[in-house]
Amino acid sequence: MNVLPWYDRIPRTRLYLKLPEILGGLVNLAAGQEGGYGQVEAFEHAFADMMAVDGAVAEPYARIALYHLVVALRLPPGSEIIMTPVTIHDIVNVLLIAGLKPVFVDIDPQTYQMDPQKLIAAITSKTRAVLVTHLFGLATDMDAIQAICRQRGLVLLEDGSHAFNAAWNGKKLGTFGDAGFFSLSSLKAVSTGYGGIVVAKDAQLLEGVRRQAEALPKVDKGHLLGILLRNLIVNLATHPNLFSWSTFPVIRWISDRSPETIRKLQTDNPNVLRLSDIPEKWLWRFCSIQADLGLHCLSRMREWDEKRRSNAHVLLDYLKTVAPERLPRLMQGSYNVFWRFPFRAPEGAEFRRFMAMRGVDLTTTLLPCCAGMPIFSDIARETPNAQQAVREVHFLPVHPTISQERIHQMARIVLEFLQQRG
Ligand SMILES: Cc1ncc(COP(=O)(O)O)c(C=O)c1O
Repeated sequence: MNVLPWYDRIPRTRLYLKLPEILGGLVNLAAGQEGGYGQVEAFEHAFADMMAVDGAVAEPYARIALYHLVVALRLPPGSEIIMTPVTIHDIVNVLLIAGLKPVFVDIDPQTYQMDPQKLIAAITSKTRAVLVTHLFGLATDMDAIQAICRQRGLVLLEDGSHAFNAAWNGKKLGTFGDAGFFSLSSLKAVSTGYGGIVVAKDAQLLEGVRRQAEALPKVDKGHLLGILLRNLIVNLATHPNLFSWSTFPVIRWISDRSPETIRKLQTDNPNVLRLSDIPEKWLWRFCSIQADLGLHCLSRMREWDEKRRSNAHVLLDYLKTVAPERLPRLMQGSYNVFWRFPFRAPEGAEFRRFMAMRGVDLTTTLLPCCAGMPIFSDIARETPNAQQAVREVHFLPVHPTISQERIHQMARIVLEFLQQRG
């Protein structure tokens, strides 16, 4: 029986910001260094360089990045925007607040990306835009989606929050459309504690976004302090030296006795509301302390992508002949960064419990399928593949700090689960 050693359990994820960097942020905040936007410019330039585009604008959140984009695009009220249904509900909220009508189209059940045929079928005379979410850091055929949008005269927007540095035929995801935006929140591969960033082809569109971003009030120190402290706690709770003997035993105890509890704590969120206005607490100007954090992540992003990809390929090699139907289908021409490694386990809590007993903590996607959420019942759509994916997909940890030895061991544990199920 394979079990990870008691001193080296694997958490569902780790933060991409290192402990000294978060502490550095707290020190800078205490020293009052949140003002001054030189570092913000440096971060925007570094991000634009990484994406091979002319410019980027930092924003308080990805949802605000999207809001500023659709405001700057001046789409007529009531315009339909076709979108991927698996995303955070506030992405849908900002589109509704901007006066647009989100139209959900289903994903492909194996690639988890927008299905171009379903996109074509959803286009009506009111469609003005398409929003593609590059789920889990996997790339889809963006040439096909780009061609559809060009032929129909539709604006193409890309949510690359899971897909920093991922590419299709050598071109970065986020640069196929008129604009791309990214979340820089704490779990993302490029994290600034919280934050977002926009890239756009058209200099005028980018300027329209910049005007809105720069008009926001200066960051609230208490807000930033809260975010940095939360990052500190998560970093400590998942830190290799602490996780195995402090956090993990609690997770395993709960998984054993009440397997749905942890998932419910994360999904039954009372803050899931339909909004009619942008909340003020989302509207802070991106500051230099965040920019510093983002520059740290950018400096090691490629190296960490390669480590994560290598971990993902170990899992693929072990599992591809035994359970290909549970694995993502990778498209030829894609450079996938595997921000998460999706593995289908309809067994749900039984699978999570099995893995927890062997030393691996893991979770389902936790992202909702917005097409079926009660708060959006007026725009509900049948998207069975997306519904099934949010129920069945579990993330096998592939974080770059997981060693080769442990990833092989984890793959063997998954194999054991599959063998036991026959
Ligand atoms: C795909 C996707 N888009 C957007 C967001 C929202 O990011 P933010 O919290 O920066 O608005 C998230 C957050 O996790 C996400 O997963």
